[in-house]
Amino acid sequence: MGFMRKPFVAGNWKMNTDSLSSVELVKAIASASSEIAGHRVHVAVCPPFVYLQGVVNALSTSSIAVGAQDIYYEQKGAFTGEISSSMLKDIGCTYVLCGHSERRHVIGETDELINKKITAAILGGLLPIFCVGELIEERKASETEEVVTRQVKNGLAGLSADKVSAVTIAYEPVWAIGTGLTATPQQAQEAHALIRKLLGQMYDTELAGEIRILYGGSVKPDNAAELMREQDIDGLLVGGASLKADDFVAIIQAAT
Ligand code: PGA
Repeated sequence: MGFMRKPFVAGNWKMNTDSLSSVELVKAIASASSEIAGHRVHVAVCPPFVYLQGVVNALSTSSIAVGAQDIYYEQKGAFTGEISSSMLKDIGCTYVLCGHSERRHVIGETDELINKKITAAILGGLLPIFCVGELIEERKASETEEVVTRQVKNGLAGLSADKVSAVTIAYEPVWAIGTGLTATPQQAQEAHALIRKLLGQMYDTELAGEIRILYGGSVKPDNAAELMREQDIDGLLVGGASLKADDFVAIIQAAT
């Protein structure tokens, strides 16, 4: 892990939990990680929209931050079903996931839409966690570099250096998400180094050295430490294992 970048562990709860279990989960995480969360490692949880407020309230005395799983790029108006950056700010969110693979590949979000969401999130004072990653067919066809390069360039299009410094990137190979098939530390490091090099070309090496790049895809307590040992892996985006307080806390500890 790069020395300038404080580790960051974020939990993506996806479409899981309910009003009671969301609060219980986050209380258990907060009490078991209170010694390190916020000091030695930044921690965030991303519950479903409808439980955000309850989780924010439950974390009022904790340094664990809250993020949404998605956002819409307009501020307000006739956009039935959508949620804006100002609404997320209003209820106490800090982060927002943009371009998660399930939104790209299940819901059908494009690079262009994701770019608008990242831009709106930053303008609205949120910190986007911008997800990129290749499909298994793309990796097999040796297209990983091309795909990730395209996603990063298109996703950050039009963002100046001072704006992009608000972004955390998450490299999540799609074939590793929810499958139990974690990328090896070497495969992950290779992709992270590529992304950091690209950021250096798009902006400058100093900024590229400051931007956190998380790994995601079947992160578990027993593989978290070895992933974090890689130079360009600055944190972890955790799905399934973030729904169990013990596992998520073990991952937070492994990241310090
Ligand atoms: P997983 O999900 O940890 O369950 O593989 C990661 C993610 O989708 O962010």
